Amino acid sequence: MAKLFINEKNKKGRIKAEIYGHFAEHLGRCIYEGLYVGEDSEIPNVNGMRKDVVDALKEMQIPLLRWPGGCFADEYHWKDGIGPKETRKKMINTHWGGVVEDNSFGTHEFFELCEQLGCKTYVNGNVGSGTVQEMSEWVEYMTFDGVSPMADLRKQNGREKAWKVDYFGVGNENWGCGGSMTPEYYANLYRRFQTYVRQYNADKPIKKICGGANVADYFWTEDVLKTCFAPPHPDFAHGYMDGLSLHYYVHPEGWEIKGSATEFDDKVWYKTLAKAKYMEELVERHGAIMDQYDPDKKIGMIVDEWGCWFSVEPGTNPGFLYQQSTMRDALVAGVTLDIFNKHCDRVQMACIAQMINVLQSVVLTEGEKMVLTPTYHVFHMYKHHQDADLVESFVEGNKTIGVGEEYQVPLLSESVSVDKEGYVNITINNLSVSENVPVEVAFAELTPSEIEASVLTQEMRAHNTFEDPEKVKEEELTDFVVEDRKIKFTAPACSVVSFRVR
Ligand code: AHR
Repeated sequence: MAKLFINEKNKKGRIKAEIYGHFAEHLGRCIYEGLYVGEDSEIPNVNGMRKDVVDALKEMQIPLLRWPGGCFADEYHWKDGIGPKETRKKMINTHWGGVVEDNSFGTHEFFELCEQLGCKTYVNGNVGSGTVQEMSEWVEYMTFDGVSPMADLRKQNGREKAWKVDYFGVGNENWGCGGSMTPEYYANLYRRFQTYVRQYNADKPIKKICGGANVADYFWTEDVLKTCFAPPHPDFAHGYMDGLSLHYYVHPEGWEIKGSATEFDDKVWYKTLAKAKYMEELVERHGAIMDQYDPDKKIGMIVDEWGCWFSVEPGTNPGFLYQQSTMRDALVAGVTLDIFNKHCDRVQMACIAQMINVLQSVVLTEGEKMVLTPTYHVFHMYKHHQDADLVESFVEGNKTIGVGEEYQVPLLSESVSVDKEGYVNITINNLSVSENVPVEVAFAELTPSEIEASVLTQEMRAHNTFEDPEKVKEEELTDFVVEDRKIKFTAPACSVVSFRVR
């Protein structure tokens, strides 16, 4: 029997909703087909956005969307994607699959989508192949309400009022696809480019995100902060940055091989989960460097790309990064979200990569068909953590499991929050492929009277297909017992369980 102790009175910090953010790049079938089918499509849509997909994402409570890349961002020239669609430039998406990008999804379409989703906006600018002028004009086009060349151009293109840009990324992976820069070089460019991300609206400031490290490149974090970290100052109220990014993907068999998304054994299961758990070390070690500059944690760690990256589905375009999503992905999502929740003092945003039809997606589409992946269900089960307060929790007697010594993981992973309505939200992952685990949840003071619970469980390789779209789905959990301040239940092998209790 594992014992989960919860001190619901000991609040440890706010879990920002943005931790549950998503990422959509002009890559494969993420934007085109996945989200945007155009007004003339036979697939039901509202102003070109797929209705089924938008409805599903709203139901999952998507809080934020990052766009247009990724590597694509540092090749994107925003003026190609405005104005009448017939006259928009066509180009080759050289990064991703060498297909024609017709720019029919651009700035106006992105904000239309976010309005339909009711989510915050995170726009990523181009440092790698763009200019300061181009970036500054984009910010003016999107956010300036007065008289100016860019505000006038926006109005000519049919949008009177400025939009709200919640976050703006100054480049992406500038150590790699975003320009192969050294940290010193990028840091100096960052200082220059961010100067022209003007704050036109004092009441709606844009949060500026500085491009951070790849995985364990702690030197990058150190070097960039050394040059760019600036405390709040009367002339630049927010300093030079509001956040520093971090990218980490789980490749069970390494970057070169990656491995199948659906064919794997127990050993690879534990290897994958151990690599997902490594996120904790990354957050803590990059966080320790950030603490040296920013002990009050004023800037956020922005994990704006994370998730599983496997080999593409056989027969699909290798440049489209289309992969299936199994119960293994569900557990990777649960474990990672628990890590973010528990480090919410520093992690202020995270975006799983990517939202639809690319890498660890929550939605897959094929023509007019749509399936929700196991990862979707995890985000749905975790949604009540958004903007709730993390509270103290720990599992007593949590043994480690795995295959061999190298890839050991804890049997259970959990995080607990209390939301504005006073509900205690508990999420628990059982990482074992074979062991059902009896769990006793003990509250410090609460005697539960209202309880809702759900479970996601199947064998480790199970996934949803267009032929069998509901093989893995969230189901109500009714098999639990309440005794005073305790709830007892069994977490099935390979499962994610959530409780909402008051
Ligand atoms: O998400 C796919 C790619 O991974 C992104 O374009 C890039 O930023 C990262 O390397």
